[in-house]
Amino acid sequence: MAETAQGAATQEEKEYSEAQIAVHWKEEEYYPPPEEMAKQANAGDKAILERFAPERFPDCFNDYAEMLTWDKPWDTVLDASDPPFFKWWVGGRLNACTNCVDRHLESRGDRNALIWVPELEDDETQEITYADLHRRVNEFAALLRDFCKVEPQDRVTFHLPMVPELPVSMLACARLGVIHSEVFGGFSGTACGQRMADAKSSILVTMDSYYRSGKLIDHKAKADEAIEAARKDGIEVDKVLVWRRIPGEYHSESEMVQGRDFFIDELLGDYRGQDVEPESMAAEDTLFLMYTSGTTGRPKGAQHTIGGYLAYVTGTSKYYQDIHPDDVYWCFADIGWITGHSYIVYGPLALGTTSVMYEGLPTYPDAGRPWRIAEKLGVDIFHTAPTTIRMLRKVGPDEPEKYDYHFKTMTTVGEPIEPDVWRWYYKVVGKERAAITDTWWMTETGGFLGSTLPGLQPMKPGSCGPACLGIQLVILDEDGNEIPKGTGKAGRICVRNPWPGRMLTVWGQDDRFIDTYYAKYSDQNSKEWGDWPFMCGDGAVQADDGYFRILGRIDDVINVAGHRLGTKELESAAIEVDEIAEAAAVPVVDETRGKIVEMYVSVKPGHEASDEVAQKVSQQIVKDIGAIARPKNVWVVPDMPKTRSGKIMRRVIAGISNFADVGDTSTLANPEVVDEIREQVQSAKREKGEVPQDLSAKEKEEIATYGESSE
Ligand code: WT7
Repeated sequence: MAETAQGAATQEEKEYSEAQIAVHWKEEEYYPPPEEMAKQANAGDKAILERFAPERFPDCFNDYAEMLTWDKPWDTVLDASDPPFFKWWVGGRLNACTNCVDRHLESRGDRNALIWVPELEDDETQEITYADLHRRVNEFAALLRDFCKVEPQDRVTFHLPMVPELPVSMLACARLGVIHSEVFGGFSGTACGQRMADAKSSILVTMDSYYRSGKLIDHKAKADEAIEAARKDGIEVDKVLVWRRIPGEYHSESEMVQGRDFFIDELLGDYRGQDVEPESMAAEDTLFLMYTSGTTGRPKGAQHTIGGYLAYVTGTSKYYQDIHPDDVYWCFADIGWITGHSYIVYGPLALGTTSVMYEGLPTYPDAGRPWRIAEKLGVDIFHTAPTTIRMLRKVGPDEPEKYDYHFKTMTTVGEPIEPDVWRWYYKVVGKERAAITDTWWMTETGGFLGSTLPGLQPMKPGSCGPACLGIQLVILDEDGNEIPKGTGKAGRICVRNPWPGRMLTVWGQDDRFIDTYYAKYSDQNSKEWGDWPFMCGDGAVQADDGYFRILGRIDDVINVAGHRLGTKELESAAIEVDEIAEAAAVPVVDETRGKIVEMYVSVKPGHEASDEVAQKVSQQIVKDIGAIARPKNVWVVPDMPKTRSGKIMRRVIAGISNFADVGDTSTLANPEVVDEIREQVQSAKREKGEVPQDLSAKEKEEIATYGESSE
């Protein structure tokens, strides 16, 4: 290549790999913890930082384990003899359900464990005390044990929406030592079936219907798809247990199959009043699987343990969410995601608090709904995602001030939050009285990795904060060298040490577990835990003060409203459509949802581009993955921009879709196609009024480097 100005720039850029992009943000100002909040905080004394200092590892985490009730104490805090399969509190035995339910009965049996708010505002809120929860969990556990004949560590799959039957089902499994695997209710039946097959799970617990946007939608129909998909992957579904959203009524087009499908409310009659002895389980036994996207088609089941996971979410709920038993805590997320498992169900209930669940959309019937719920129920801890905050700010910026509620802490999770949105959350939602914890973590980590202790550490908009207690975070460059703080350079963020919340492995795929999280930086021959840093998959930069800014995923995953969608999964769904030859998924910056998906496809010879083909692609994606993945647009293009080795250059089309710079196209085999696609896509988008506002520097960088790791 000639040494043109552009050539030189490219050369210089190459010195920074994708993960090392320079970051140009300005530093934000600190906000101190609100005084009133700090006075009553669980973590209110700086001594806690000493107790969790690196030299106290691993025993420091006993602080969390001691929050639980054990049937038998452990012999070994951490067994690190077989990295990276670290085991916590080995020899110890416990039951997760006992810890979340039974042990609160004596002191707080008549206090609410759950408050469930249905989507229709006139429908009655359900208050479920710890005593009620105990009864419901025991009855369903008896049914699972005696009717379904499940054994400890069998897998039972749920495909349930945000209803109290979901935590009841989870805790019933936990009581029996059975592994639950909840598939997000919004996912398709096919996605559910594939996950059943992966988990070798032959029992499905679902619901006939649920409310979304004020309408009852058919959910049982997805069970039929799930059974079909599981069968294709070699698993025969034995029983489908169906909760009914409105007791005694059935709202689904799907027929109940004799001998396979059963209404739970009818079966439960036989189990009324039954008590089930909780199974005493080993700490390292499995509590649940949570499937998450990866870069290849096969779903990845994060396998979380009973002792390590439960201790970690309990400890972090106490110190970072600042949960006390008398709080009314509302995590406005779906239990179908890890956030709901850790911070709606297991952490809060282990602490004996009241956890609020809401069935529906944040803006149903209007943008004042969340604040009315908060006012009515006396919510004092509020937890949600930037996508929800952005939406509420957009459609109801003045709503919060109309309602009389008082939050002491508020959480954000799922994506980086823009400082501007953070300030609205702080000022308008929190009324400048609540501490914000920006909690950074992921499905695989069980609980928070980076955040501020709300009563002790000042907040900084846009930064999650320092490493959480006992967590040793480090940013590594491509060669595995530590990038010191304060340099302004980004790299891959990793956890140096084992911690109890980390998943034990990828279900049935130990090699993939090592490949995905350890292969890049670990010395695989070493038996020292220090040689096994866990690679989180995010790019990050650390400021002088030790606070981290998270830049998002480095691998090929598109984060839509806090949900990770695998690029490869989207593309393989598109290619299932007969006419499609090639497909590429790209992220498009969206004001409320963070990112949305756009697809580029080309048709096989002999087929024509048409709206119908585009429609089919969209439908296939919704069928395979779910409505959350529905592409904003499907562009049927004459050809994809490709490198000479035939790889699609996603950053070029991502640039086009976002009206951003497409970067250097000189290495393309077919550079002429770029202008052609740009003309086609951008004129259509102009017509539809889909021209984005100015992108931030960070967004520009993200798009300019999108998909490079697979090029
Ligand atoms: C990815 C994990 C964590 C539960 C919900 C999502 C991004 C998560 C933050 C945050 C910046 C964040 C990361 C991470 N992420 N929280 N506070 N600030 N980014 O779980 O589906 O496993 O996604 O979400 O990119 O890797 P997940």
